[in-house]
Amino acid sequence: MSKLAIHGGDPVCGDPPAARWPEAGEAERRALLAAFEEGDWGGYPEPGPRAAAFAEAFARSHDCAHAICAANGSVTLEAALVALGVEAGDEVIVPAYTWIATAACAIRTNAVPVFVDVEPRSWCIDPDAVQAAVTERTRAIIPVHLGASLADLDRLVEIAERHDLALIEDCAHAHGARWRERGVGSWGAVGSFSFQTSKLMTAGEGGALVTNDAELAARCHSVINCGRHEGGYAHLDEWIFGMNARMTELQAALLCAQLEALPALTARRAAAIERLSAPLAELGLHALPRDVRVTTQAAYQWVLRYDGDAFAGASRDRFLRALRAEGVDAAGPFYVPLPDHPLMNARSAQWPQLRARYGEGIRAPETLEKLSFPVTSRAAYEEAVWLHHGILLAEPRDLDRVVDAVAKVKRHAAEL
Ligand SMILES: Cc1ncc(COP(=O)(O)O)c(C=O)c1O
Repeated sequence: MSKLAIHGGDPVCGDPPAARWPEAGEAERRALLAAFEEGDWGGYPEPGPRAAAFAEAFARSHDCAHAICAANGSVTLEAALVALGVEAGDEVIVPAYTWIATAACAIRTNAVPVFVDVEPRSWCIDPDAVQAAVTERTRAIIPVHLGASLADLDRLVEIAERHDLALIEDCAHAHGARWRERGVGSWGAVGSFSFQTSKLMTAGEGGALVTNDAELAARCHSVINCGRHEGGYAHLDEWIFGMNARMTELQAALLCAQLEALPALTARRAAAIERLSAPLAELGLHALPRDVRVTTQAAYQWVLRYDGDAFAGASRDRFLRALRAEGVDAAGPFYVPLPDHPLMNARSAQWPQLRARYGEGIRAPETLEKLSFPVTSRAAYEEAVWLHHGILLAEPRDLDRVVDAVAKVKRHAAEL
């Protein structure tokens, strides 16, 4: 029985099974070259012809009437709050288990992010916790469709409607996913997507908002185009203080090709999940259960729950160190509870609206000791194993080597 790679043995995946991401295809090359040669590089006038074409197709593919392209999936969240009229001191409920952009958008609009825990089942925002966090200052809820899970949209829509709150779906992980046969992003006021390099569709950077509300779409266009009124949003009465967050035509050209490829890639990832779920569960690595209402699953990161008992009680981090040495590029604390993240260092001296809830700031020691998110903490520090979707695009024989690597680590668990 060969030694573990961390102890000097040969790795199971000497040639790691991650497929190259992004998959740079001929369609992308042709689209990019055409934009380049035609001199259509920028994003002004907004939207450019390619951005408009992409927006139309992307909106349709998520069951929305409108899409607004932007520079990335952080500014889209911020633009959504501005366009919705969120004001200083308004509260925005966000999950504690997400990337900082989900909360940073509230801080940057002088609003106040209110962190709540996630559900053990999906590691997405817990609707009961959302309900408990609603106050008279609450204006919006931003659920994140995390990894390969979708937040419970039925309950969140109901809570948002009952309290007259804007539901903003953060779909940065969920391109092409469907909840009860309807696209993510279409369930609340607006949905936000990222096209950053690691995402399921990418232009290197990029973002989009989708909505069925024509007036909100016009406001979003204005916000990401410096507050201008022109083209399809020349009719706006109110001048909104905006920013330049336009998408370039080069990005849009790439994204038109990426959108065409998405359904086939989604199917490939789903087939990989189907192939790997049972053998990995047998070894003690469990896919989060898929809600029956998730009718199309997108898997930006395939998130698994590590069962330490199945590995002789070894910690998740020791397991991961061994697995990575075997050539499987899995991550652990991919996200931590947001207030634990050094990047979440928003201080009240700079963002005074935070003071009433967070004292000197979100990471002030006296604040941190009061912020507790047990489900998020357990996932982040003990249980979560994240596999990037690039791995799911590997050939079946390479996928099986992932199982072989986990099996090898399990055989040697006592040595971890
Ligand atoms: C959940 C979530 N929201 C928002 C973003 C922000 O997207 P971008 O990187 O395009 O700014 C990300 C990106 O990593 C994300 O994972």
